[in-house]
Amino acid sequence: MQTNNQCRLFNGMKQKINLGVLVSGSGSNLQAIIDNIEKGLLDAEIKVIISNNADAYALVRAKKHNIPFVIIKHSDFEDRESFERKMIDVLKSFSVDLVVMAGFMRLLSPVFLNAFPMSIMNIHPAILPAFPGVHAQKRAADYGVRFSGCTVHFADEGVDSGPIIIQAIVPAYDDDTEDSLAARILKEEHRIYPQAIQFYAEGRIEVIGRKVRIKGSERIPEKPLHNPSLTTF
Ligand code: GRF
Repeated sequence: MQTNNQCRLFNGMKQKINLGVLVSGSGSNLQAIIDNIEKGLLDAEIKVIISNNADAYALVRAKKHNIPFVIIKHSDFEDRESFERKMIDVLKSFSVDLVVMAGFMRLLSPVFLNAFPMSIMNIHPAILPAFPGVHAQKRAADYGVRFSGCTVHFADEGVDSGPIIIQAIVPAYDDDTEDSLAARILKEEHRIYPQAIQFYAEGRIEVIGRKVRIKGSERIPEKPLHNPSLTTF
């Protein structure tokens, strides 16, 4: 992927973009994207959904909303490259501009990354670079963090390691379980993923090395959060 020391300035022009969404499971992030498109808040169209899991509930959602979907099982291919080449063919045949990984449980090789330079997003249920990989919410809750959250980032060859586009923070409480923390995080995932895609559609994402700048976004207030609240200081 074009990240290291390369600058890619997007065009600042708002345009409707074609999405290809990759899923493996429940597809609640897919649903948030569909809902925001249907509300007219997201300048995008989902051209195709690809699942590597024939039983993914995301496919029920695809059918309900009449969105074309294709099942491509990685286990049917000899190696990762041929699996990815099949996905690339499908995505290109639907003229996809932006690939959106929404709970897609496979790592991508340079074959796939180079086919969509700086145009593959992923969402992760933690404040990266903390807790990359699977079971992030459980590991954060077990670690005893006071805050967690979620991250939308561009994909690269690593595990949840590409340039960060947007993050949301939620508090974590002493009595949190994996499920209670995951539910709090998921609510924010459903807000930041559509927003990141809309930034892309608006041509506002600039990537310099690993840093992402959203052109025209307001600087957030310099207001620290504390958990627990400070009582004396
Ligand atoms: C989300 O927590 C996402 O951050 C992670 O996988 C989960 C997918 O959930 N990458 P869903 O399939 O969108 O409901």
